[in-house]
Amino acid sequence: MSDHFQGDDILGKAFDAQLMRRLLRFLRRYKGLFLVCVLLTLGLAGIELTIPFLTKTAIDSFMTLPRSVVTLPDAPSEGSPIDLGENRYLVETLTVHPEVRREWEEADLLSIERYLYIAQGTEEASYPERFPEAFTAISGGWIATEDQLGALPLEELERLRGGSISGIVRLAVLFLFVLLSRFVFGVLQMYLLQYTGQRVMYDMREEIFAHVLRLPAAFFDHAPVGRLVTRVTSDVQAINEMFTSMLVNLFRDAFLVLGILVVMFQLEWRLALAILAFFPIIVLAAWQFRNRVRAAYREVRKQIARMNAYLQESISGMRIIQVFVQEKKANDRFDDINQSKYRADMRQLMTFAVFRPLMSFLSSFAIALVIWYGGLNVLRGSLSLGALTAFVQYVRMLFEPVLRLSEGYNVLQAAMASSERIFRLLDERQEDPGRGVTLDAFQAKIEFKDVWFAYNEEDWILKGVSFVAEPGQHVAIVGPTGSGKTTIIRILLRMYPIQKGQILIDGVPLEELDLGYLRSQMAVVLQDVFMFSGDIMDNIKLRSDISDDVAIEAARFVNADFVEELPDGYHTEVKERGVTLSVGERQLLSFARAVAFDPSILVLDEATASIDSHTEHLIQNSLRKIMRGRTSIVIAHRLSTIREADNIIVLHQGTLLEQGTHDELLEHDGLYAALHSLQFAELD
Ligand SMILES: Nc1ncnc2c1ncn2[C@@H]1O[C@H](COP(=O)(O)OP(=O)(O)O)[C@@H](O)[C@H]1O
Ligand SMILES: [Mg+2]
Repeated sequence: MSDHFQGDDILGKAFDAQLMRRLLRFLRRYKGLFLVCVLLTLGLAGIELTIPFLTKTAIDSFMTLPRSVVTLPDAPSEGSPIDLGENRYLVETLTVHPEVRREWEEADLLSIERYLYIAQGTEEASYPERFPEAFTAISGGWIATEDQLGALPLEELERLRGGSISGIVRLAVLFLFVLLSRFVFGVLQMYLLQYTGQRVMYDMREEIFAHVLRLPAAFFDHAPVGRLVTRVTSDVQAINEMFTSMLVNLFRDAFLVLGILVVMFQLEWRLALAILAFFPIIVLAAWQFRNRVRAAYREVRKQIARMNAYLQESISGMRIIQVFVQEKKANDRFDDINQSKYRADMRQLMTFAVFRPLMSFLSSFAIALVIWYGGLNVLRGSLSLGALTAFVQYVRMLFEPVLRLSEGYNVLQAAMASSERIFRLLDERQEDPGRGVTLDAFQAKIEFKDVWFAYNEEDWILKGVSFVAEPGQHVAIVGPTGSGKTTIIRILLRMYPIQKGQILIDGVPLEELDLGYLRSQMAVVLQDVFMFSGDIMDNIKLRSDISDDVAIEAARFVNADFVEELPDGYHTEVKERGVTLSVGERQLLSFARAVAFDPSILVLDEATASIDSHTEHLIQNSLRKIMRGRTSIVIAHRLSTIREADNIIVLHQGTLLEQGTHDELLEHDGLYAALHSLQFAELD
């Protein structure tokens, strides 16, 4: 039994290879699906990368040219005009002959960046004559500015622009296709990812609960219920979050960052370098943020656990709080916890509130830098306008993965802590199933041979207890509170292993018997009866192979008449573990359970303590009938049951003081005689 089981304070490493390996085991069955998810994600990232590039192409290839048209007898003398064929050239302002440029400058035409230059001998060379309103005469030729070009008929314009309009249409179609495939990929990826995540969670919950079902009683002595519930629900959810949002995004983001950097260096390495200079700042900010978030997150978790525990306790104990008029105290205590939770939440929120705008500021700053430096280069002609536009988009895209990665740290850490808790639970030793021995004919002889037992090592609760219950015999256990009576029953049911001595059933050591077989031979009626959700019928049956008739017969047999007076009879819903039934009624149902079960061994632990003497008297006969022919171990307060026992065991602080029949023990005049005169005399 680990003392660290509770583990709400676990907040270890963000990444633990060993834990991760165990986690991936859950994923193994779905590794094909997961691989598809990763591939889809990478595909999505690839698509993301192409979008700014498409914008760049649209701008550079189709939108910025040609802005104006010049017809001159000779080709430009300087620079390297782009030959468009058919005597047409694309000319940058800077490459135009200096004299011509001076003339343009005087005519205030120099703000125009690109020209389509048309030499003589082409059809377009006749434009100035055909459309004089669009052209201005310059030395040796004509020029049409962007504004003036509007005067040309549309089909001529289309021709002049060399098919750029249809090019834009084609590009727009391509763009649409890219966006559409991003959508389809996105939906597919999301679906597959969530599907895989949900399947993994399902498996995990299944495995955890199956494991918990096989844990020994000793485990539950130390494990708070609320925390076990958390293991199956929120801890599993935290791991799912890591798988679905974190792990897959990790691939995507790494791929994106790398891709963006490559593209940026290709476009303009100096600008890319300048952006890269920002990285240390971003990483530093993210790291700072991570530390803060970590501390805040730890505090929030702690406060949530505290609040849950307090709420759980006070709501289940609300009746006591109200009866003892402790509302104010409870309220003050809650207020205190609530305050701490509020403060922890605010701190966490503030951390995020500062970090996100800070990152957005940094990214805006980087974009401003790009516009400033890139803009200058565009004016100088060393960077195209499209490249600048793409750059701005890439910078924006670059910051997102970094942001996600630093926030994802949280998710990763939570998942690691959760998986550590889950694995710690899964590592708890299961109940020893025994060596699988079953008996051909179960006689139900019980023999305790010098049995020593301690819940916690060396703190002996039973000290050398020996007794025999022959088949069909009734053994009563008597002793003061805390003397170890219930403990004898627990070790007989093999809820706890004994340390010394032997318990034999029909001569076979208890631990060799198949656990399921052993327990199916016994029925137990305890003082505190646990009722499950469902109706009364379900609660009597418990075992599904019992018929309704048998259950009803059993209930009548133990005089549980009250059931038939309930509005819905046997189909009355059991609420909240049976709070609407009295303790005595629950005990009667528990008797009915035992009778319906038809066990070879019957164990009653103060089973009639909450039944009034009138009702007890009524069921006394049925009790005798139930016990007939079965080996019974009975812990009882009232003498009537005890007096008829074949053997009475008297326990005192875990030691068997005396045993014998009622008469023998009275004659012996020991503890039993003393208890008898003190406790039982008045009831006799
Ligand atoms: N789950 C447990 N873990 C540790 N100690 C226990 C546990 N259950 C009972 N004890 C201790 O064992 C002793 C015997 O308890 P129990 O057998 O319930 O007594 P009885 O039924 O005779 O009143 C008590 O001192 C009790 O404190
Ligand atoms: Mg007890």
